[in-house]
Amino acid sequence: MSQWLNDAVFYEIYPQSFYDSNGDGIGDIPGITAKLDYIRSLGCNALWLNPCFLSPFGDAGYDVADYCQVAPRYGTNEDLTALFEAAHTRGMHVLLDLVPGHTSVEHRWFKESCKAAQNPYSGRYIWSDNVWDDVARYEGIAGSLRGISERDGSVAVNFFSMQPALNYGFATVTAPWQCAVDSPQALATRQAMKDVMAFWLDRGCDGFRVDMAGSLVKNDPGQEQTIRLWQDMRAYLDEKYPHAVLVSEWGEADKSLRAGFHMDFLLHFGPSHYMDLFRCEHPYFSREGKGDIHAFVKAYRKNYELTNGKGLICPISGNHDMPRMRHWLDPEEMKIAFAFLLSMPGAPFIYYGDEIGMQYLDLPSKEGGYERTGARTPMQWDSGKNAGFSTAEADRLYLPQDPAADAPNAAAQQAQEGSLWREVQKLNGIRHATPALQAQGGIEFVYCQEDAYPLAYLRTAGSQRVLVVLNPAGRETKFLYDGKLGRALYTLNGAPTQAHGVVTVPPASAAFIEVE
Ligand code: GLC
Ligand code: CA
Repeated sequence: MSQWLNDAVFYEIYPQSFYDSNGDGIGDIPGITAKLDYIRSLGCNALWLNPCFLSPFGDAGYDVADYCQVAPRYGTNEDLTALFEAAHTRGMHVLLDLVPGHTSVEHRWFKESCKAAQNPYSGRYIWSDNVWDDVARYEGIAGSLRGISERDGSVAVNFFSMQPALNYGFATVTAPWQCAVDSPQALATRQAMKDVMAFWLDRGCDGFRVDMAGSLVKNDPGQEQTIRLWQDMRAYLDEKYPHAVLVSEWGEADKSLRAGFHMDFLLHFGPSHYMDLFRCEHPYFSREGKGDIHAFVKAYRKNYELTNGKGLICPISGNHDMPRMRHWLDPEEMKIAFAFLLSMPGAPFIYYGDEIGMQYLDLPSKEGGYERTGARTPMQWDSGKNAGFSTAEADRLYLPQDPAADAPNAAAQQAQEGSLWREVQKLNGIRHATPALQAQGGIEFVYCQEDAYPLAYLRTAGSQRVLVVLNPAGRETKFLYDGKLGRALYTLNGAPTQAHGVVTVPPASAAFIEVE
């Protein structure tokens, strides 16, 4: 695993909405480059960009029409290469979003595969051999497109209807038109995706966040063949691009790290109980103190034991697929949520705008966003026109800005002591200075009871031991701890005190304390 990951704190950028450098109302790549110093000053040292490639934008760019060309609305391939260079100059790394499971219907591969005459792309997608035989009834296939091609057949889709599934084969072949995972067609698709990775790695990107990574091989219930496929992808990278980093959108670290990914996300789907933390009726990190983190910790420990030493589980503040944390938590509560995210093992990911507590807005769907749209609004930079996002007229913006009079912005929070932005910056600084808090430090849960507060865990690296005590509840809480509390590296709203082995924790507080 690349050493820089141990101290990486990622910042996820939805390019449409980050910073518009040329006044056309939509964020772009030069805009990201212009804001690298902002990201660095927050203490983040790595980026993940959502797809920025040519696309009809039926799914915000997750419907790729050309993997090797930056969408004109974001700039050029040269702009993206310049972003890699500018990031590297600052000691930062950049991951692009690889969407290997499907393309747009506008991709040249798909247009070719729709033709009746055999050609090199006839097997690039999953087609049945007559239009009345529906591919949709097989495991791992989300639906089908029928009646759209000169070719006689129905074609599998992976997500939305305009995202046809690429053909990596079936783990178990049960119909004549299905390809095996080692068929020439399936292997050609695999090679094509290796070529896409090589294209961007040659231009200086540091790796990829991989979209729907577990979805590639069909009729593969335990995903064993998909795991093998990724092991092969990894072997290719290890040979040619050993430093290339891969993080999977999979949500089951025991599988994805075995498949060769360095990191997997804690997500709103899958068995993680991630939603119990910040996004449910009674989130654990709410001051009301009615949450339960026990199920999350139980699932986390299980996964941690299965994966420890093999790679990282990444805690996230949110992403472009779920409502923002601010929908459930206020900025004071979010400070404790960040104390958690930035003191856990793995590489944390901060979704742009969460560092200032941007709101989840109620908006009509844009580019296939549906309920996700409200978490994708333009970054709020300052109190100027369009909150500093763009010089375009407001009605030309990609999405409207938060209209609230008290909408947060970065400039104001940077200038204000005690703001959420300042707290996130402080927490990042402490993490960078404290090996025990970083990705590969160990974790032991000290106090985590059902329906109870606080949460306490020990982070360790070498001889360094740091006790993290988080009490989101608006009441004083207690737990038993025998070890002697030493110097506090961080406190918010007071420090815990200890008497006769009982630790008393102030209301709505967080602390990182050195222990022997
Ligand atoms: C992933 C992306 C999501 C996209 C989907 C289809 O879940 O995060 O935004 O819509 O895959 O590519
Ligand atoms: Ca622009």
